[in-house]
Parts: sequence; C-alpha cells; structure tokens
Amino acid sequence: MAEKKTELASVILAAGLGTRMKSDLAKVLHPAAGAPMIVWAVQAAKDAGASRIIVVLGHQHERVKAVLDAELGAGVVEVALQLEQLGTGHAVAQAMPLLESWKGGVLITYGDAPALRPETLRALVEAQAAGKAPLAIITSRLRVPTGYGRIVRDAKKRVLRVVEEKDCTERQRKLDEGNAGIYAVEAGFLRKTVTRLDTRNAQKELYLTDLVEKAAKVKAVPTVLVDEEEIQGVNDRAQLAAVDRVLQRRIVERHLRAGVSMRAPDQVFIDRQVEIGRDSVLGPGVHLRGKTRLGAGVTIDAGSILTDAELADGVLVRAYCVIAESHVGARAQLGPFAHLRPASVLAEDVHVGNFVETKKTRIGKGSKANHLSYLGDAIIGEGCNVGAGTITCNYDGVNKDETILEDGVFIGSDTQLVAPVRVGRGAYVGAGTTVTEDVPAGALAISRVKQENRAGKAEQLRTRALERKKAKQAVRA
Ligand code: UD1
Ligand code: CA
Repeated sequence: MAEKKTELASVILAAGLGTRMKSDLAKVLHPAAGAPMIVWAVQAAKDAGASRIIVVLGHQHERVKAVLDAELGAGVVEVALQLEQLGTGHAVAQAMPLLESWKGGVLITYGDAPALRPETLRALVEAQAAGKAPLAIITSRLRVPTGYGRIVRDAKKRVLRVVEEKDCTERQRKLDEGNAGIYAVEAGFLRKTVTRLDTRNAQKELYLTDLVEKAAKVKAVPTVLVDEEEIQGVNDRAQLAAVDRVLQRRIVERHLRAGVSMRAPDQVFIDRQVEIGRDSVLGPGVHLRGKTRLGAGVTIDAGSILTDAELADGVLVRAYCVIAESHVGARAQLGPFAHLRPASVLAEDVHVGNFVETKKTRIGKGSKANHLSYLGDAIIGEGCNVGAGTITCNYDGVNKDETILEDGVFIGSDTQLVAPVRVGRGAYVGAGTTVTEDVPAGALAISRVKQENRAGKAEQLRTRALERKKAKQAVRA
C-alpha cells in the first residue's frame, strides 16, 4: 500500500449574485452541458480527492443546497453562509468555523468555473505538497487578461503577489499571466491568515488574493499553468455559452474515444451522465439528455432528442424522434418522427413508425404500430399489428382508462379503441371500427356501416354540382 495521502477538504465559493446573468436564477444553478455549474464544481473537487466539500452560499442558498442534495445526494456538501458579499477572502473566512480542527489541505475553487478538470486540481494539490509550500496557485497565459488578477513575479520568476486589475499600475496591467483564483492551501496557514485580511484596496473588499503575498514570504509559491479555456469563469450568458461548448466538446470526445461514432460531432449534444455502448452511431443534431443510456450498436439518426431514455442493444432510431423516460428493447426500430412519452416500455423487436405517439404504454415483443397512431395507457401483447391511424381513446374528460390488446391481435386501420376495453388473444378488428366493448379471443369485431354501390350515382352528383355552380354565377351577374 502507498502511504496515506493527506486529507483534502474543498471550499467552493458560490455566494455571488451574478448580476450580469440578468436572471432570476442564481448564477451557479445555470446549467452547462446538462448540469448546474455548481454540480460540475463539486464533482471536480470530489474527483480530485476532497473528502469534505464546503460550499459558501449567499443568494438563493436554500435553493442551491436543495439542488446539490438532489443531484449529488443529501449531505454530500456542507454549507457555509455568506449573506453579504464582502469579497473572496471574506467568503473563505465564513467556511473557517467548519475547518477549525482540519489538519489536511484545503482546495479553494469557484462555483462558476465549471470547466476546471479534477486532474488539474490534483496537480495543484501535488505541487503544494511537493514544494512544502503553504499555498499553491493555478495561473494561465491570457490573450485578453481583462478582469483577472495579474501574477507579479520577481527577476528570478518567483511569485511575489497577485494584483487585482483595479489595483494594477500601468506596467502590471500589461502582464499576461492571470490568476485563476484556485488555490491549494495548508489548513493551518489558511486559518491564520484568512481572518486577518484588510480592505485597503481599490474595491474595499477582503481579497483572498492577499494570501499569495503572505505565502510567498514563507516559501516559494508553486504555480500550475493551464490553458485559459479551463479556468474561464462565467459572469454572463455569453461566457456560459463558451463554457458549455468546452464541456460539450470534452464529453463528445470521451465518447468518440470509447467507440461511439458521430457523423458531425460538433452538432451532437450529450449530457454529463449519459452512457453509450460501443459501436453506436449518432447522427447530426442528436441530443442525449439527463440519464439516457444506450446499449451497444445503437443507431440514432439526425435530430432525435432523448431524455432519460434507456435503449437496449441494436436499437435503430430514425430521424427526428423524441423519446422521454422510456425503455426500448433490443433491436426495436423507431421513427422517423416517433414520439415516446414517459413510461413507454417497448420490448425487443418492436416497430414504432412515423407519427406514432405512445404514453404509459407497454408493447410486447415483435409488435408493430407503424403509422399515425396514439397509444396511451395501453398494454399491448406480443406479435400484435396495430394498423395505421389507430387511436386509443383513453380519456373521457375526467378519467384515464386502459386499453389491453392480448397477444397476436390484429387491429385494422383507423380503429378507435374506447377505453376501458380489452381485445382478446388473436382477435381481429376490422378497419374503421370503433371498439366500445371487449372483443373475445379469436373473434372479429367490426362496427362500420355496410357498403352499398349505387350504379351511375356519381354522374348524377356531378351534374347536380355543376348546375348549382351555374345558378350561383347567374345570381352574381
Ligand atoms: C477573482 C480574483 C482574481 C482572479 C479571478 C479569476 C480576488 C480578489 N480576485 O476575481 O484575482 O483573477 O477571480 O476568476 O479573489 N464570491 C463569493 N463571495 C464574495 C465574493 C465572491 O462567494 O464575497 C465568489 C463569486 O460568487 C465567484 C467567485 O467568488 O464565484 C469569484 O468572485 P468574483 O467576484 O467573480 O472575483 P473576481 O473579481 O473575478
Ligand atoms: Ca469572476
């Protein structure tokens, strides 16, 4: 066994309002690649090895906590409240009572910087440990450093301090190495320094960045240089869109490398928790959302949107299908333009074709509903054929009722099944029938008016129509 690593706690700053988001929703709850930003931040800290996660919350703190509990499990995060935002240093100070006797390291990150990878955080923690330094920081070379604190180094390139943009001299403003705002700090040093900050700066705030100068006086401050894309924080929706793109690209790339083909990867959108089996193929414009899970060899053609869907191996989804909270068995074929609404459960080899909508419906093995149907609150057996235009009338304006088709039933086109109703095993329903009573097994149900052919009647109707037209024209003239 390797020696036990020092324990790591993480403090995630997320009390800010996010005024520039122009939103009623707390900034950190805005989603990027299918998850609230703060969920990404907490997950990164967890994956980096933090055994305690303290989020500093202010605006909408109850709502943020509720989302975190729901997404990650109750009790995964501890909350420190910062009801007035007096600066990043003040925010961290609010978490200190929870870390009074903490012996290990402390990782400080932001709730609005979701692109930061756990590997990077790990590297930061290791740099701090390797340098036996009280504090280590992440920095980045910035094309446009506006808004970032600048890293000021001495002639030997050692970090001296971080200077906020508003406190920069002309020369400091030209420095292109920016402070990511992410720190690995030794707990004792943090306790001693963070409660003794002052507000002697342009913004009259308690700057967390002031710890850097204090640490540099004790021991050289190790830095981990990362790409700007990874540290970008979100202040407005344009930046949110940029971060979303970064996260999307990463998720897509992970699936490509795991054996999933995509015809236009930059037009495919996959949420964080989605799972996809190998040899699956995704067309352009496909969205896989929530906890969608695809088996192996699944093909999803252009424009289909799946939310919390579960598809077994070899399923074929043709273009422009919408599937939500449903299960699809192996080798089933859907679409184009099929709509599976919640609680649709399709067995193996089922075919559901164009303009077929299902809701709360089970369809047994090998059964087919290939065209223009609504199947709601239905239980359909194996080997059934549901003809074009079949409708389950499941709603009487008050109640929802069930339609049951036993195995091997054949439903002719343009049938209405008025629920509650049951069609027995192997029964046959003639096209155009309105089924209002149960059909016994093996019977033929038919309710339409008997056809009669009236010889020559067509010509007569046509003549009469022409005469009416002439009469109307005469009136107008
Ligand atoms: C901070 C850093 C800056 C760095 C930049 C990187 C300071 C003083 N400056 O600046 O050097 O380049 O991040 O993005 O630390 N927050 C609170 N409570 C507060 C203040 C902030 O929780 O009282 C949270 C915010 O919600 C946000 C994060 O801390 O998630 C950063 O705050 P922000 O005001 O955006 O800091 P910057 O001015 O960008
Ligand atoms: Ca910021």
